[in-house]
Amino acid sequence: MTAVATSRAATASSPTPASVSLSRLTLTDFRNYTALRLEVDPRPVVLTGPNGAGKTNLIEAISLLNPGRGLRRAALAEVTRQGAAGGFGISARLGTPAGDLDLGTGIQPATAGEPERRLVRVNGANASGPAVMAEHLSLVWLTPAMDRLFVEAASERRRFLDRLVHGVDPGHARRVSAYEKAMRERSRLLREGRNDPRWLGALEDTMAGHGIAIAAARRDLIARLDAALALGSSVFPTADLAIDGLLEGWLGETTAVDAEDRFRARLAANRGRDAEAGAATSGPHKSDLQARHVQRDMPAALCSTGEQKALLIAIVLANAKIIAARRAQAPILLLDELVAHLDRVRRQALFDEIAALRAQAWMTGTDQSLFDDWGDRAQFLAVLGGEVVVDRKP
Ligand SMILES: Nc1ncnc2c1ncn2[C@@H]1O[C@H](COP(=O)(O)OP(=O)(O)O)[C@@H](O)[C@H]1O
Ligand SMILES: [Mg+2]
Repeated sequence: MTAVATSRAATASSPTPASVSLSRLTLTDFRNYTALRLEVDPRPVVLTGPNGAGKTNLIEAISLLNPGRGLRRAALAEVTRQGAAGGFGISARLGTPAGDLDLGTGIQPATAGEPERRLVRVNGANASGPAVMAEHLSLVWLTPAMDRLFVEAASERRRFLDRLVHGVDPGHARRVSAYEKAMRERSRLLREGRNDPRWLGALEDTMAGHGIAIAAARRDLIARLDAALALGSSVFPTADLAIDGLLEGWLGETTAVDAEDRFRARLAANRGRDAEAGAATSGPHKSDLQARHVQRDMPAALCSTGEQKALLIAIVLANAKIIAARRAQAPILLLDELVAHLDRVRRQALFDEIAALRAQAWMTGTDQSLFDDWGDRAQFLAVLGGEVVVDRKP
């Protein structure tokens, strides 16, 4: 028996525990799920079923256990099951190296006096906001909608980059939301012509402090990603990443303290211009992620759709490795309809990378045979009309 076969056999007989995994997921009035209670073990999860069965909905629910609007970027009201009386609820039990943890989120629908609100619970207690979830769970996802990431508007790539960063550095989500909050407040004052220099100055101070921290965290991750990507993989291409951004550029030339002063001065000087524009015209909320396909020596946007997808897979796997190393726990991966686009060699390479990461990957597809190479290293679930059943006992 070869060494490879031995190690395969060993993994097969005792499923390797993922460092962080979902053990239970409960959905209430979420999309096409009225009431779902699902229990899984730490192995990767294969979800198969016909179109419209609820596969993407299920992993979208998991993606909402992180700050932001999830993998479809849906409005909260849209995800509540049509016809439901109240809001939706998602709760999950996570197995972590430190023990079990319960995370929950949902919406409290608008009432007469109060607007609709997102609720977040950690171990049953109300949390201050969605950013907290990034501290407990790192998620990485790839969906068919991301196929156009490199040709879309910069805002999509920036959001993608920031999600990669908060997977590694959970404080990033908080900084981005604090920066945006101060920016919105400043824009509102400027639009309303309320030029109170002390109030504006205080907001600009907040923007400068968080802005530099955001830019620095992005630069740090890009450097790590580039290093990880350069190590290469035999089947996925090498991506060369860079950030095109004012503050990120300054941080390459000067100290953080100096860059922060410069940004504060820039904001103060731009008040008139920003008042006319109705928004801050420069800052980290304008940065863009640039990617090149090294082997093709081409910007990602000019590569074929398949090549762009392969680049994204390489980036996301590199990010998952960095998260695993930095946080001593692999992220949960949500891979929607990914496998159908890969040939067998790439499929096997992807499965092996996931297995080596010991990540609980949730993979969807319509054709279960594409996942055969997992054997009993993964668990198989069938999804149909808002019900999920164990499909094949290992
Ligand atoms: N808010 C909602 N309430 C009820 N059903 C919904 C809601 N949003 C989407 N759906 C239904 O969910 C189904 C799509 O599920 P989806 O997870 O995208 O399927 P797939 O298995 O192909 O990934 C569709 O039938 C759609 O009508
Ligand atoms: Mg789908």
